[in-house]
Amino acid sequence: MANDSLEIHEAVRDRYGRLALAIQTQESVSCCDAVTSTCCADSIDLYASDTRWLPETVSGLSLGCGDPLALSRLQPGQTVLDLGSGGGIDCFMAARMVGPDGLVIGVDMTPEMIDRANENKNKVGLNNVSFRLGQIESLPVESESVDVIISNCVINLSPDKTAVFREAFRVLKPGGKLAVSDMVTIGQFSAAERADLSAWSECVSGAEDVAAYVTAVRAAGFTEISVREKGRPDTELSMIGDGAGPARLFSAQITAVKPESLREDLFSASNVYFAEVAEEWDTLRSGFFTEEMRDAAIARAQLPLHAVVADIGTGTGFVLQGLLGRAETLVGFDSSPEMLARARLNLDGQDQVTMRLAQGTTLPADDGSFDAVFANMYLHHAPDPAAAIREMARILKPGGKLVITDLDRHDQEWMRAAMADQWLGFERDDVRGWYLDAGLGEIDIDCAEGTCDCSTPSAEAIALGIFVAIARKQ
Ligand SMILES: C[S@@+](CC[C@H](N)C(=O)[O-])C[C@H]1O[C@@H](n2cnc3c(N)ncnc32)[C@H](O)[C@@H]1O
Repeated sequence: MANDSLEIHEAVRDRYGRLALAIQTQESVSCCDAVTSTCCADSIDLYASDTRWLPETVSGLSLGCGDPLALSRLQPGQTVLDLGSGGGIDCFMAARMVGPDGLVIGVDMTPEMIDRANENKNKVGLNNVSFRLGQIESLPVESESVDVIISNCVINLSPDKTAVFREAFRVLKPGGKLAVSDMVTIGQFSAAERADLSAWSECVSGAEDVAAYVTAVRAAGFTEISVREKGRPDTELSMIGDGAGPARLFSAQITAVKPESLREDLFSASNVYFAEVAEEWDTLRSGFFTEEMRDAAIARAQLPLHAVVADIGTGTGFVLQGLLGRAETLVGFDSSPEMLARARLNLDGQDQVTMRLAQGTTLPADDGSFDAVFANMYLHHAPDPAAAIREMARILKPGGKLVITDLDRHDQEWMRAAMADQWLGFERDDVRGWYLDAGLGEIDIDCAEGTCDCSTPSAEAIALGIFVAIARKQ
């Protein structure tokens, strides 16, 4: 991409700021100055439901390219989030649908749009809507708090669609739905077209090829993904490959679901255990795994400068804390909301660190996006360790390092019940085989510098061996 994210955000904010001011001064507003696409029809034509009750300052500032409300099937009482809420048209219609027990939040990064939306809110007299200034790439919204996300002709404007879908996934409750109208293409814009900031901010050259769009939605962790062209809704496009040739731009209807399985997983033995011990985990862990062992493993990884590093099964963020100052970007993944809440507290104020609620076998991350992946004492909780290793290898860049520290095979059966361990450690040869199958080479498996000192139920302390397995993605 020829323009950096900052430039794109500035160009987009500038354009929509001007449009928001124009409606105030009664100038005519059109989002389609230079657009010859299906985008930006008159709001009367755009929506299946009645829009005549809306004041002119709302319908006149309708800049969408479709009707996300028709896709969303909103129910009374739901919490809805509108990405890029503009003058608020979709928020107001959603607010009527979810009723007084529901809540609608509109997020927009253009202050003039937030001002217009708040004035419009006073005009329509709906109290269950609020507008927040913020970017859709880093939403000012609590995790797992939203039932349905809608958006109308906005995601195409973002320079970082992967971050948008990752954030959407974070804030949705398990089972929550994404229902979006957006401009997409089949085929590719040239570098010169992409670099044209006015075409970008007019909802043209930021539009992504459908295959790449679906990849970003899937990488965030969504399932049941559907993409249909607004003008030809009978044909499902989510499975088509990369479009060849010049871009054909069109308005699309995109839906996807955040899987329920995370919720089901909350009742797995591991998640029940970690929900119970999250508060005291740091104390418990320090008894059997030392900072020295962690730091020795980190040193052996020989991270490159400015490394982007993941920690799988991050728990309360122990490994991330050891990586502070040694990596530029850090992401912790864990399936326990309670452990992640502690990790957020432990790493409060560290802007380079983010947390993602995730299953180890479907990490919400792009292929080849990390310089190193760490997993400390996670593998023996993974239902399928070989699949977990394959998934960690998937998100490594070629040449990136996987660093797993875990227990050597042992016979302390009581640990399954007491600590929800799925596996009583591992044979190092098994780990080596899983690494090879996952496309990793230069495998080095050695003793970690120390042992895991556990107290047994009979209060007798035992020392279990710990290995550190380092390898490079080929
Ligand atoms: C084409 S308008 C659509 C507005 C509204 N959804 C509608 O249908 O009328 C795009 C809106 O998205 C906002 N926007 C664009 N990129 C954004 C981003 N990265 N974060 C937050 N808001 C963004 C703009 O400020 C603008 O209000």
